[in-house]
Amino acid sequence: MVKKVIVLNGGPRVGGNTDMLIDAFVEGAVSVGHIVKQFDLRDMNIKHCKGCQRGGKNRNINYPCAQHDDMDKIYPQYIDADVVVFASPLYCWGWTAYLKNAFDRLYAVTEASSKNGTYNTPHKECVMLIAAEGDYPENFALIVNYYESILNYLKWTNKGKVLAGGVINIGDINDKPSLQEAKKLATTL
Ligand SMILES: Cc1cc2nc3c(=O)[nH]c(=O)nc-3n(C[C@H](O)[C@H](O)[C@H](O)COP(=O)(O)O)c2cc1C
Repeated sequence: MVKKVIVLNGGPRVGGNTDMLIDAFVEGAVSVGHIVKQFDLRDMNIKHCKGCQRGGKNRNINYPCAQHDDMDKIYPQYIDADVVVFASPLYCWGWTAYLKNAFDRLYAVTEASSKNGTYNTPHKECVMLIAAEGDYPENFALIVNYYESILNYLKWTNKGKVLAGGVINIGDINDKPSLQEAKKLATTL
């Protein structure tokens, strides 16, 4: 089955290890016919969530946030997507602020689809791609816990994680199996 995939790229560094992981993933996804839309958050104007709780109150369901900025490019694609890919370097044991910021703003979709106080977040499949300097399991404990907490809460389905440790300089990931892992994962969505 052809799937619609969106990639939220939280990598600040152009051509960095995160970008390379994404390229491998996208290559795999496209090779089996999936439709991929990638958002490089570093190039987008996305304000912080204000916590105003006005999501979905006064606009088209495709643009549910009270604020209007480049998230309006993401919302319709996110709503339509089967698979959401969270991609980021590990920064201080978490996603980068770019990705956290955009993810916070997706809350407006949940608000817009809530009925009688019950949040009906759209159900998605998802993937996490992470590049990091540290290459030991504990280094990823917090981000894996965070990712799994999100999935449990949203009732989303994990399709896989690629945790590429041991990379710091641009291109370090070329020496790792992670690129092949990401490509293969994308073919099994
Ligand atoms: C601000 C900052 C925080 C970082 N925090 C961590 C960390 O907590 N754990 C880790 O293993 N690597 C950490 N790193 C290293 C990056 O995750 C690593 O260099 C990664 O390859 C960067 O991805 P990129 O090549 O896509 O830029 C940090 C780097 C920066 C710049």
